Amino acid sequence: MALRFEILGRFNRARAAHLTLPHFLCQTPLFMPVGTQGTIKGLTTSQLEDIGCQIILGNTYHLALRPTSELIDELGGLHKFMNWPRALLTDSGGFQMVVVLCLTDTLCTFLDSFRMLICNIVFRYPYCIWLTLLKRVSHFSLIRRFYRTTSRPFMCLYHESLPEFSPVDGKPMLLTPEESIQIQNRIGADIIMALDDVVKTTITGPRIKEAMYRTLRWIDRCIAAHKRPHEQNLFGIVQGGLDPALRDICVRGLVERNLPGYAIGGLAGGEDKDSFWRVVAQCTAALPEDKPRYVMGVGYPLDIVVCSALGADMYDCVYPTRTARFGTALIPEGVLKLKHQAMATDVRPIDPTCECMVCKKYTRAYIHCLVTKDAMGSQLLSYHNLHYMMKLSRDLHSSIVEGRFPEFVCKFLQRMFPKGD
Ligand code: GUN
Ligand code: ZN
Repeated sequence: MALRFEILGRFNRARAAHLTLPHFLCQTPLFMPVGTQGTIKGLTTSQLEDIGCQIILGNTYHLALRPTSELIDELGGLHKFMNWPRALLTDSGGFQMVVVLCLTDTLCTFLDSFRMLICNIVFRYPYCIWLTLLKRVSHFSLIRRFYRTTSRPFMCLYHESLPEFSPVDGKPMLLTPEESIQIQNRIGADIIMALDDVVKTTITGPRIKEAMYRTLRWIDRCIAAHKRPHEQNLFGIVQGGLDPALRDICVRGLVERNLPGYAIGGLAGGEDKDSFWRVVAQCTAALPEDKPRYVMGVGYPLDIVVCSALGADMYDCVYPTRTARFGTALIPEGVLKLKHQAMATDVRPIDPTCECMVCKKYTRAYIHCLVTKDAMGSQLLSYHNLHYMMKLSRDLHSSIVEGRFPEFVCKFLQRMFPKGD
């Protein structure tokens, strides 16, 4: 194991800890901003250090395509390549493929009825013949996407790997657990994620069970393929949808493997909050006390506060930076829409209580003027939003250590929901 996890304080199930990784000593609970192509859009690594960012997330899938993991390895690893001295985490690539593949729910439901029929025909013949044929006959992206969505679960079934078409050159790629780990070993992040089979929580039926068992089968292949266990920590990912029995099997299977840390995956995909919190509560209760717990893809401030109360330690999400690009700032009262006409003449900072560089130097009116016209607008908003998330993480940590977590949560909720709704 290449980490130390030392719990400094607890309040009921909530914990505050020091997570010592090869490149940085992090304080939990912590939020990890998501960088796609080795960058957090619009921010320099010095700015990320300034706002107290401890660990950032890179996407294996995107980095493997460009600039490629071989080149990153040759140039000394991702830390050096992107000039980031602190900790890094790479996701395994499976989830990003699902996002790329995902059609709207309605279309998926519609396509589901054809899936069996099509796949019965498709898999009588080799994959590449169909690919060539379909490419010839279809210039309609809908048909291509239909083929991708339809074939994916069945490709998993037949090949135990995730199929995708490279957006760079359109060639089919198969991501195996071995390949995902090999790529992540080359990239060199402090934490690497096992390849999992991710299914949206709103999908029901046997696909959830199949994905959970596949994720369990893949963990052993990931462990066997991991060549740098003394420098990089391999985290397993709990799948199983909203089914408590499946989640339980998955947690127990992963815990048996004694991994350095565990993630709770397959959430924040459109399920209702009650189901989401129930799954997090079940998993955190069953995961080991002395290992970090990471809830993947979770990033609304309220969710982070609730999941921390339930005993989770780490989070990541594109939300703070994505919403910034749409002109929205995170503030203790909720959100502030800078595109709104009322902002045009408002000379206050985004949040008068915020101590970030943007709130010290710029007015709402100035940012309103920029948001629709200049990249600087979204950069300033991303800076403020990530500062907000870092401060929230620090406040969670210190309130747990100092034994005032309930007061902190009450104040947080009162400011966000002043009418108590
Ligand atoms: N990011 C958000 N959710 C998930 C998940 O379930 N698996 C992986 N690998 N990444 C995620
Ligand atoms: Zn600010």
